[in-house]
Amino acid sequence: MKGPVFLTLIGLVVIAALAILPFWAGPPPEEGLPDMAKFIGRFHPVLLHLPIGMLLLVLALETGRLFSKRKPGSSTQVAMFFAAASAVVAVLLGFVLYYSMPGDYGQELAERHLNGGIIFACGTVAAFVVKVWVDVADGRGAWFFWLLLLGSSGVMGYASHDGASLTHGEDYLTKYAPNEVRKLIGLPIKEEKGGKDGGGSKPTADAKPPAEQVVYTDIIVPILEQKCYSCHNADKQKGKYRMDEYDLLVKGGKEGDGIVHGKVDDSNIVVRMDLPEDDDEHMPPEGKKDLAPHEVVLIKWWIDKGASKDAKLADLEAPDAVKEALGKVVPPEVLAAQKAAAEGEIKKSAEKRESVKVDVERLRKEFPAALNFESQASSGVTFTAVSMRKDFGDDDLAKLAPVLPAMVSLDLSSCTVTDQGVKLLESADELRSLRLAETALTDAGLDALAKLSNLESLNLYGTPVTNQGVLKLAALPNLKKLYLWQTRVDAAGVEALKAKLPNCEIIMGL
Ligand code: HEC
Repeated sequence: MKGPVFLTLIGLVVIAALAILPFWAGPPPEEGLPDMAKFIGRFHPVLLHLPIGMLLLVLALETGRLFSKRKPGSSTQVAMFFAAASAVVAVLLGFVLYYSMPGDYGQELAERHLNGGIIFACGTVAAFVVKVWVDVADGRGAWFFWLLLLGSSGVMGYASHDGASLTHGEDYLTKYAPNEVRKLIGLPIKEEKGGKDGGGSKPTADAKPPAEQVVYTDIIVPILEQKCYSCHNADKQKGKYRMDEYDLLVKGGKEGDGIVHGKVDDSNIVVRMDLPEDDDEHMPPEGKKDLAPHEVVLIKWWIDKGASKDAKLADLEAPDAVKEALGKVVPPEVLAAQKAAAEGEIKKSAEKRESVKVDVERLRKEFPAALNFESQASSGVTFTAVSMRKDFGDDDLAKLAPVLPAMVSLDLSSCTVTDQGVKLLESADELRSLRLAETALTDAGLDALAKLSNLESLNLYGTPVTNQGVLKLAALPNLKKLYLWQTRVDAAGVEALKAKLPNCEIIMGL
C-alpha cells in the first residue's frame, strides 16, 4: 500500500502547487522576464502536444478495455503518468512564456488559457492518482477515473482552442468555415463578395459622399489598420497597446496617452511616428512599411482637431495641405485591387521562371557563365557572348531560341551573327537591352528589331546600318538609348530619327 499512498501525496502537492501558482506569482511583470526565460518558455508550443497525445492514448486504451474481458494492465497507468507529468511541464513552460513576454498576447485570452491549462494539468494528475487506486481496487470506482479523464479532455479541448487563438488569431479555426458550419456554431454569416479575407463589411470611404465621411472610421482607421494594427490588436499588444478600438487607441499602452485630444505633440502615437526612422522607438518599427507623408498629415490634423470619434469631414475645417493629403488617400477597393494585381504579377513571373528553367539550365552547360536569370526571383533571362565573340554565330543564337521569349538583356557585340540570325530575335519580345555592336548587321536585319516593342536600349555601334534603315526603329515606343557611333548614319539621319523618337537619346560618339 505504500506506493499508492506516496503517489497520492505527491499528486496532491503538485495539484496544490499548480492551483496557487498564479496567485503566488501575481500579475506578469510589465517588462517581461530575461531572455533565458523567453527561450525556455518558447518550448511550450512544442511540448504541449505530448500531454494531448498521451491523454488520447489513455482514452483509446480505456475505451478498448471496455469491450474486452482482459484484466486492466499497467499500460494505462503508465500512459496516464506521462500525460500528467507532461501536462504539468507544459503548463509550467506556458506560464514562463506568458510571464516573459506578457505584452505579446491578449491579456484576457492569455489568462483564460493559463487557467484552462492549470485545470487541465490538475485534472490529469488527479486522474492518474485515481487510476492508481482503481487498479489497486481491481477496477472498482472506475467511473470516477472516467469522469476525471473525460473532464480533463474537455478542458483540454477548450484550452487548446484558446491557445490556438493566441498564436494564430481568434478566428483561426473558423475563418474559412463554410456558411453552413458558421450557422451551426452561431457565427455571423460571411458575405460572398467579401472575398478571401473573411468578408469584413466595413464601411468604405467612397460608399458615402466625401463630406459625409467620418474622419476617424473612414480615413484614420484604414491608415492605422494597414500600418499599425498588425502589432497592436486584440491578440498582439506590443507595448501593451491596442489600437483597434477607439478608447484603447486614445488611452495608450504602458506609456499612456496614445492620443491627447487637440494636442498633437503630447500624443504618443505622433511622438513615435515623428522619431527619426533609424530610432529604435520609431513606429512602425524598422522593416515595416512606414507611414506615407500624407498619412502623417491626416493623423496629426485629426488629433489637432480634437481626435473626435464621429466628426464628419464637413465638420472639421481642412487647410489646403490637408485637402491635398485627402486627395492622396487611396480608396480601399483600389488598394485591394492593387494588392491582388501585384500578387498576380508575382505568381505569373514565378510560373514563367519555372517554365524556362529547364532550358536555361541545359543551355548554361553549353554556354557557361553567359546565360543567367536577371535576379533571384525574376523570370527574365540575360545572355552575354562577350567571352565568345567571333566564336558565336547564327547557329549558336539558334540554340538560344527556347529562352529568347524570356530574354531581357542580350549582348552579341563582336559576334559573327548576321541579319539571318537576328531574325530569330523577333520572338524576344521582352528584350529591353540589346547590343549588336561591331556585327555584320545591316538595314535588312532592322526589320526584326523594329518589332521589339519593349526595347529600351539598342547598341548598333560599328555596324553598316544607314539613315534609311534606322528610321525603322521609329516604331519602338520605349527606346531611350540608341548608339549609332561609327555607322553610316549621319547628322541628317539622326535629325530625322529624333523627330520621330523625341524621348530617345541618340549617341553618336563615346
Ligand atoms: C511590427 C510590429 C509593430 C507595428 C507594425 C507597429 N508597432 Fe508600435 N510597438 C511595437 C512594439 C514591439 C512596441 C513596444 C516597444 C516600444 O515601446 O518601442 C510598440 C510600442 C508602441 C507605442 C508605445 C506604447 C506604450 O504606451 O508603451 C506606440 C505609441 C506605438 N507603438 C504606436 C504605433 C503606431 C502609431 C504604429 C503604426 C504607425 C505602430 N505602433 C506599428 C511594434 C509595432
